[in-house]
Amino acid sequence: MSTETTIHKPVMPDEMMSGLSVRREGNYVDATLGRGGHSSLLLEMLADEGRLIMFDRDPQAIAAANQRFGADPRCCVRQSRLSELKTSLAALGIEQVAGIMMDLGVSSPQLDQPERGFSFMHDGPLDMRMDPGSGQSAAEWLQQATVDEIRKALFDYGEERRAGAIARAIVTRRAQRPLQTTAELAELVSDCLGPAARKQKKHPATRTFQAIRIVINDELQELRSGLTQALQVLEPGGRLAVLAFHSLEDRIVKRSFNALARPAVGNRRLPQPAAHNPDYRLIGKWLPTAAEIASNPRSRSAVLRVIEYCADRPTTAGAQP
Ligand SMILES: C[S@@+](CC[C@H](N)C(=O)[O-])C[C@H]1O[C@@H](n2cnc3c(N)ncnc32)[C@H](O)[C@@H]1O
Repeated sequence: MSTETTIHKPVMPDEMMSGLSVRREGNYVDATLGRGGHSSLLLEMLADEGRLIMFDRDPQAIAAANQRFGADPRCCVRQSRLSELKTSLAALGIEQVAGIMMDLGVSSPQLDQPERGFSFMHDGPLDMRMDPGSGQSAAEWLQQATVDEIRKALFDYGEERRAGAIARAIVTRRAQRPLQTTAELAELVSDCLGPAARKQKKHPATRTFQAIRIVINDELQELRSGLTQALQVLEPGGRLAVLAFHSLEDRIVKRSFNALARPAVGNRRLPQPAAHNPDYRLIGKWLPTAAEIASNPRSRSAVLRVIEYCADRPTTAGAQP
Protein backbone atom coordinates (compact mmCIF):
# COMPACT_ATOMS: atom_id res chain seq x y z
CA MET A 1 0.00 0.00 0.00
CA SER A 2 1.41 3.42 -0.88
CA THR A 3 1.75 6.06 1.83
CA GLU A 4 -1.05 8.55 1.75
CA THR A 5 0.09 11.92 0.48
CA THR A 6 -3.17 13.34 -0.84
CA ILE A 7 -5.19 15.71 1.28
CA HIS A 8 -8.92 15.79 0.71
CA LYS A 9 -10.12 19.40 0.79
CA PRO A 10 -13.75 19.48 1.97
CA VAL A 11 -16.12 20.98 -0.59
CA MET A 12 -18.37 23.93 0.40
CA PRO A 13 -17.35 23.63 4.06
CA ASP A 14 -19.00 26.88 5.26
CA GLU A 15 -22.21 26.20 3.35
CA MET A 16 -22.34 22.64 4.75
CA MET A 17 -22.00 23.89 8.35
CA SER A 18 -24.47 26.74 8.02
CA GLY A 19 -26.90 24.49 6.13
CA LEU A 20 -26.85 22.03 9.02
CA SER A 21 -27.35 24.84 11.54
CA VAL A 22 -25.30 22.86 14.06
CA ARG A 23 -26.63 22.59 17.62
CA ARG A 24 -23.73 22.38 20.03
CA GLU A 25 -25.16 19.51 22.03
CA GLY A 26 -26.69 17.55 19.17
CA ASN A 27 -26.02 14.06 17.85
CA TYR A 28 -24.69 14.25 14.29
CA VAL A 29 -23.76 11.75 11.60
CA ASP A 30 -21.14 12.07 8.90
CA ALA A 31 -22.37 9.26 6.65
CA THR A 32 -19.47 9.59 4.17
CA LEU A 33 -16.54 10.39 6.39
CA GLY A 34 -13.73 10.24 3.80
CA ARG A 35 -10.70 11.85 5.39
CA GLY A 36 -12.82 13.71 7.95
CA GLY A 37 -12.66 17.22 6.47
CA HIS A 38 -16.30 18.06 7.14
CA SER A 39 -16.26 16.03 10.37
CA SER A 40 -13.43 18.07 11.86
CA LEU A 41 -15.27 21.32 11.10
CA LEU A 42 -18.41 20.00 12.75
CA LEU A 43 -16.43 18.87 15.78
CA GLU A 44 -15.13 22.43 16.21
CA MET A 45 -18.74 23.49 16.73
CA LEU A 46 -19.81 20.68 19.09
CA ALA A 47 -19.82 20.98 22.88
CA ASP A 48 -18.59 18.14 25.11
CA GLU A 49 -22.14 16.75 25.24
CA GLY A 50 -22.39 16.66 21.44
CA ARG A 51 -21.71 13.49 19.51
CA LEU A 52 -20.48 12.73 16.00
CA ILE A 53 -21.00 9.31 14.47
CA MET A 54 -18.71 8.77 11.50
CA PHE A 55 -19.47 6.16 8.83
CA ASP A 56 -17.73 5.16 5.62
CA ARG A 57 -17.69 1.93 3.64
CA ASP A 58 -13.96 2.27 2.95
CA PRO A 59 -11.77 0.51 5.56
CA GLN A 60 -8.91 2.95 4.84
CA ALA A 61 -11.15 5.90 5.75
CA ILE A 62 -12.06 4.12 8.98
CA ALA A 63 -8.42 3.41 9.86
CA ALA A 64 -7.43 7.05 9.20
CA ALA A 65 -10.38 8.32 11.28
CA ASN A 66 -9.58 6.01 14.19
CA GLN A 67 -6.10 7.52 14.28
CA ARG A 68 -7.29 11.09 13.92
CA PHE A 69 -10.46 11.12 16.02
CA GLY A 70 -10.24 7.91 18.10
CA ALA A 71 -9.21 9.75 21.29
CA ASP A 72 -12.09 12.26 21.12
CA PRO A 73 -14.91 11.01 23.41
CA ARG A 74 -17.50 12.80 21.25
CA CYS A 75 -16.61 10.62 18.24
CA CYS A 76 -17.64 7.14 17.21
CA VAL A 77 -16.17 5.66 14.01
CA ARG A 78 -17.72 2.64 12.25
CA GLN A 79 -17.42 1.00 8.84
CA SER A 80 -20.90 1.18 7.36
CA ARG A 81 -22.68 1.87 4.07
CA LEU A 82 -25.38 4.47 3.40
CA SER A 83 -27.83 1.61 2.92
CA GLU A 84 -27.09 0.43 6.48
CA LEU A 85 -27.58 3.81 8.13
CA LYS A 86 -30.55 2.94 10.33
CA THR A 87 -29.26 -0.43 11.51
CA SER A 88 -25.79 0.97 12.22
CA LEU A 89 -27.32 3.79 14.29
CA ALA A 90 -29.66 1.35 16.05
CA ALA A 91 -26.64 -0.80 16.94
CA LEU A 92 -25.29 2.27 18.76
CA GLY A 93 -28.63 2.79 20.50
CA ILE A 94 -29.46 5.89 18.43
CA GLU A 95 -32.94 6.42 16.97
CA GLN A 96 -32.89 10.11 16.07
CA VAL A 97 -30.21 12.66 15.21
CA ALA A 98 -29.96 16.42 14.83
CA GLY A 99 -28.21 16.29 11.48
CA ILE A 100 -26.64 14.11 8.81
CA MET A 101 -24.01 14.98 6.20
CA MET A 102 -23.49 13.07 2.95
CA ASP A 103 -20.63 14.06 0.65
CA LEU A 104 -21.02 11.64 -2.23
CA GLY A 105 -18.54 10.03 -4.59
CA VAL A 106 -14.89 9.27 -4.04
CA SER A 107 -12.30 11.00 -1.90
CA SER A 108 -9.00 12.38 -3.19
CA PRO A 109 -6.98 9.60 -1.50
CA GLN A 110 -9.16 6.96 -3.19
CA LEU A 111 -8.66 8.63 -6.58
CA ASP A 112 -4.96 9.22 -6.15
CA GLN A 113 -3.85 5.79 -4.92
CA PRO A 114 -3.10 3.73 -8.02
CA GLU A 115 -3.81 0.46 -6.19
CA ARG A 116 -7.47 1.48 -5.64
CA GLY A 117 -7.98 1.45 -9.42
CA PHE A 118 -10.35 4.44 -9.62
CA SER A 119 -8.40 6.67 -11.95
CA PHE A 120 -7.15 6.67 -15.53
CA MET A 121 -4.48 9.15 -14.40
CA HIS A 122 -2.55 6.51 -12.45
CA ASP A 123 -1.96 2.98 -13.67
CA GLY A 124 -3.12 0.34 -11.22
CA PRO A 125 -5.26 -2.78 -10.93
CA LEU A 126 -8.79 -2.27 -12.28
CA ASP A 127 -10.54 -2.43 -8.90
CA MET A 128 -12.75 0.63 -8.12
CA ARG A 129 -14.34 -0.85 -4.98
CA MET A 130 -14.76 1.66 -2.16
CA ASP A 131 -14.69 -1.37 0.12
CA PRO A 132 -12.12 -3.71 -1.44
CA GLY A 133 -13.30 -6.42 0.96
CA SER A 134 -16.72 -6.82 -0.63
CA GLY A 135 -18.23 -7.33 -4.07
CA GLN A 136 -16.74 -7.65 -7.53
CA SER A 137 -13.81 -5.59 -8.80
CA ALA A 138 -14.18 -3.65 -12.06
CA ALA A 139 -11.88 -6.17 -13.78
CA GLU A 140 -14.10 -9.08 -12.66
CA TRP A 141 -17.27 -7.30 -13.76
CA LEU A 142 -15.84 -6.35 -17.16
CA GLN A 143 -14.76 -9.96 -17.68
CA GLN A 144 -18.24 -11.44 -17.26
CA ALA A 145 -20.84 -8.73 -18.06
CA THR A 146 -22.66 -9.00 -21.40
CA VAL A 147 -22.12 -6.43 -24.17
CA ASP A 148 -25.56 -5.11 -23.45
CA GLU A 149 -24.96 -4.75 -19.71
CA ILE A 150 -21.74 -2.84 -20.37
CA ARG A 151 -23.34 -0.67 -23.06
CA LYS A 152 -26.31 0.16 -20.84
CA ALA A 153 -24.08 1.02 -17.86
CA LEU A 154 -21.87 3.33 -19.94
CA PHE A 155 -24.90 5.02 -21.46
CA ASP A 156 -27.02 5.32 -18.31
CA TYR A 157 -24.32 6.15 -15.77
CA GLY A 158 -21.68 7.81 -17.94
CA GLU A 159 -23.95 9.41 -20.55
CA GLU A 160 -21.40 8.02 -23.05
CA ARG A 161 -22.72 8.42 -26.59
CA ARG A 162 -20.34 5.77 -27.99
CA ALA A 163 -21.36 3.25 -25.29
CA GLY A 164 -22.09 0.50 -27.83
CA ALA A 165 -18.72 0.79 -29.58
CA ILE A 166 -16.81 0.78 -26.28
CA ALA A 167 -18.80 -2.20 -24.94
CA ARG A 168 -18.09 -4.21 -28.10
CA ALA A 169 -14.38 -3.30 -27.95
CA ILE A 170 -14.20 -4.47 -24.32
CA VAL A 171 -15.80 -7.81 -25.14
CA THR A 172 -13.55 -8.36 -28.17
CA ARG A 173 -10.47 -7.48 -26.17
CA ARG A 174 -11.29 -9.69 -23.16
CA ALA A 175 -11.68 -12.74 -25.41
CA GLN A 176 -7.94 -12.39 -26.12
CA ARG A 177 -6.73 -11.23 -22.70
CA PRO A 178 -8.62 -9.92 -19.64
CA LEU A 179 -8.51 -6.18 -19.00
CA GLN A 180 -6.57 -5.92 -15.76
CA THR A 181 -5.30 -2.37 -15.35
CA THR A 182 -6.70 1.15 -15.44
CA ALA A 183 -4.20 2.08 -18.18
CA GLU A 184 -5.41 -0.80 -20.38
CA LEU A 185 -9.04 0.32 -20.04
CA ALA A 186 -8.17 4.01 -20.56
CA GLU A 187 -6.20 3.15 -23.72
CA LEU A 188 -8.98 0.93 -25.09
CA VAL A 189 -11.56 3.71 -24.64
CA SER A 190 -9.23 6.31 -26.08
CA ASP A 191 -8.54 4.15 -29.18
CA CYS A 192 -12.23 3.48 -29.56
CA LEU A 193 -13.21 7.17 -29.45
CA GLY A 194 -10.47 8.25 -31.87
CA PRO A 195 -8.21 11.32 -32.19
CA ALA A 196 -11.01 13.93 -31.94
CA ALA A 197 -11.87 12.75 -28.41
CA ARG A 198 -8.21 12.97 -27.38
CA LYS A 199 -8.25 16.70 -28.20
CA GLN A 200 -11.10 17.38 -25.74
CA LYS A 201 -10.38 18.94 -22.34
CA LYS A 202 -11.72 15.87 -20.50
CA HIS A 203 -9.87 12.56 -20.84
CA PRO A 204 -11.86 10.35 -23.25
CA ALA A 205 -12.21 7.65 -20.55
CA THR A 206 -13.77 9.99 -17.93
CA ARG A 207 -17.37 8.95 -18.64
CA THR A 208 -16.52 5.24 -18.86
CA PHE A 209 -14.66 5.27 -15.54
CA GLN A 210 -17.50 7.13 -13.81
CA ALA A 211 -20.06 4.64 -15.15
CA ILE A 212 -18.12 1.55 -14.10
CA ARG A 213 -17.44 3.00 -10.63
CA ILE A 214 -21.18 3.63 -10.17
CA VAL A 215 -21.96 0.02 -11.12
CA ILE A 216 -19.25 -1.56 -8.97
CA ASN A 217 -20.31 0.37 -5.86
CA ASP A 218 -24.05 0.34 -6.65
CA GLU A 219 -23.84 4.05 -5.94
CA LEU A 220 -27.29 5.21 -7.00
CA GLN A 221 -29.16 2.49 -5.12
CA GLU A 222 -26.95 3.17 -2.08
CA LEU A 223 -27.90 6.85 -2.33
CA ARG A 224 -31.65 6.17 -2.64
CA SER A 225 -31.58 3.84 0.33
CA GLY A 226 -29.37 6.17 2.39
CA LEU A 227 -31.66 9.16 1.74
CA THR A 228 -34.79 7.23 2.73
CA GLN A 229 -33.20 6.07 5.96
CA ALA A 230 -31.64 9.44 6.81
CA LEU A 231 -34.99 11.19 6.41
CA GLN A 232 -36.52 8.69 8.83
CA VAL A 233 -34.05 9.31 11.64
CA LEU A 234 -34.01 13.14 11.72
CA GLU A 235 -35.37 14.53 14.98
CA PRO A 236 -37.78 17.50 14.82
CA GLY A 237 -35.73 20.39 13.48
CA GLY A 238 -33.04 17.94 12.30
CA ARG A 239 -31.36 18.53 8.95
CA LEU A 240 -29.95 16.41 6.15
CA ALA A 241 -27.27 18.01 3.93
CA VAL A 242 -26.21 16.23 0.74
CA LEU A 243 -23.37 17.15 -1.62
CA ALA A 244 -23.77 15.61 -5.08
CA PHE A 245 -21.17 15.68 -7.85
CA HIS A 246 -23.03 14.73 -11.00
CA SER A 247 -26.50 15.12 -12.40
CA LEU A 248 -27.54 11.50 -11.76
CA GLU A 249 -26.89 11.90 -8.04
CA ASP A 250 -28.33 15.39 -7.80
CA ARG A 251 -31.51 14.38 -9.61
CA ILE A 252 -32.14 11.66 -7.00
CA VAL A 253 -31.53 14.08 -4.12
CA LYS A 254 -33.65 16.84 -5.65
CA ARG A 255 -36.61 14.55 -6.44
CA SER A 256 -36.54 12.90 -3.05
CA PHE A 257 -36.44 16.27 -1.23
CA ASN A 258 -39.06 17.92 -3.44
CA ALA A 259 -41.46 15.01 -3.14
CA LEU A 260 -41.48 15.40 0.64
CA ALA A 261 -41.30 19.13 1.06
CA ARG A 262 -43.63 20.44 -1.60
CA PRO A 263 -47.36 20.47 -1.08
CA ALA A 264 -49.05 17.83 -3.27
CA VAL A 265 -50.39 19.42 -6.46
CA GLY A 266 -54.06 18.51 -6.80
CA ASN A 267 -56.17 18.45 -9.93
CA ARG A 268 -57.53 22.01 -10.10
CA ARG A 269 -60.84 20.83 -11.58
CA LEU A 270 -61.54 18.61 -8.55
CA PRO A 271 -62.43 19.84 -5.05
CA GLN A 272 -59.18 20.79 -3.33
CA PRO A 273 -58.09 18.76 -0.29
CA ALA A 274 -57.50 20.48 3.03
CA ALA A 275 -54.20 22.41 3.16
CA HIS A 276 -51.28 19.99 2.97
CA ASN A 277 -48.62 20.63 5.57
CA PRO A 278 -45.48 18.80 4.56
CA ASP A 279 -43.35 17.34 7.36
CA TYR A 280 -40.16 18.56 5.69
CA ARG A 281 -39.04 21.95 4.45
CA LEU A 282 -36.37 22.76 1.91
CA ILE A 283 -33.62 24.85 3.47
CA GLY A 284 -31.68 25.61 0.33
CA LYS A 285 -29.44 24.72 -2.55
CA TRP A 286 -25.85 25.96 -2.89
CA LEU A 287 -23.24 25.88 -5.66
CA PRO A 288 -19.51 26.52 -5.15
CA THR A 289 -18.26 30.07 -5.62
CA ALA A 290 -15.80 30.89 -8.41
CA ALA A 291 -13.12 31.35 -5.74
CA GLU A 292 -13.71 27.86 -4.35
CA ILE A 293 -13.63 26.29 -7.81
CA ALA A 294 -10.32 28.05 -8.47
CA SER A 295 -8.78 26.78 -5.23
CA ASN A 296 -10.42 23.33 -5.25
CA PRO A 297 -11.26 22.20 -8.81
CA ARG A 298 -12.94 19.04 -7.45
CA SER A 299 -15.77 21.30 -6.25
CA ARG A 300 -16.71 22.52 -9.74
CA SER A 301 -19.65 20.16 -10.30
CA ALA A 302 -20.89 20.11 -6.68
CA VAL A 303 -24.47 20.86 -5.62
CA LEU A 304 -25.39 21.03 -1.93
CA ARG A 305 -29.01 20.57 -0.90
CA VAL A 306 -30.39 20.75 2.63
CA ILE A 307 -33.77 19.64 3.97
CA GLU A 308 -35.24 19.88 7.50
CA TYR A 309 -37.69 17.63 9.30
CA CYS A 310 -40.18 20.08 10.78
CA ALA A 311 -42.89 17.87 12.29
CA ASP A 312 -43.13 15.91 15.51
CA ARG A 313 -41.60 12.49 15.45
CA PRO A 314 -43.11 9.59 17.39
CA THR A 315 -40.46 8.38 19.82
CA THR A 316 -40.70 4.77 18.65
CA ALA A 317 -38.78 3.78 15.51
CA GLY A 318 -40.66 3.10 12.31
CA ALA A 319 -42.01 6.53 11.36
CA GLN A 320 -42.04 6.67 7.58
CA PRO A 321 -41.43 9.80 5.54
C1 LIG B 1 -16.08 12.78 -1.19
S1 LIG B 1 -15.57 11.66 0.04
C2 LIG B 1 -16.00 12.41 1.55
C3 LIG B 1 -15.01 13.43 1.98
C4 LIG B 1 -15.25 14.02 3.36
N1 LIG B 1 -16.47 14.76 3.43
C5 LIG B 1 -14.07 14.88 3.77
O1 LIG B 1 -14.25 16.10 3.91
O2 LIG B 1 -12.98 14.35 3.95
C6 LIG B 1 -16.78 10.43 -0.09
C7 LIG B 1 -16.60 9.27 0.86
O3 LIG B 1 -17.84 8.59 0.88
C8 LIG B 1 -17.62 7.22 0.95
N2 LIG B 1 -18.81 6.59 0.39
C9 LIG B 1 -19.28 6.69 -0.86
N3 LIG B 1 -20.40 5.96 -1.00
C10 LIG B 1 -20.65 5.41 0.22
C11 LIG B 1 -21.68 4.58 0.71
N4 LIG B 1 -22.67 4.15 -0.06
N5 LIG B 1 -21.64 4.23 2.02
C12 LIG B 1 -20.64 4.69 2.82
N6 LIG B 1 -19.62 5.46 2.40
C13 LIG B 1 -19.63 5.83 1.10
C14 LIG B 1 -16.38 6.99 0.13
O4 LIG B 1 -15.73 5.79 0.53
C15 LIG B 1 -15.57 8.24 0.45
O5 LIG B 1 -14.68 8.00 1.50
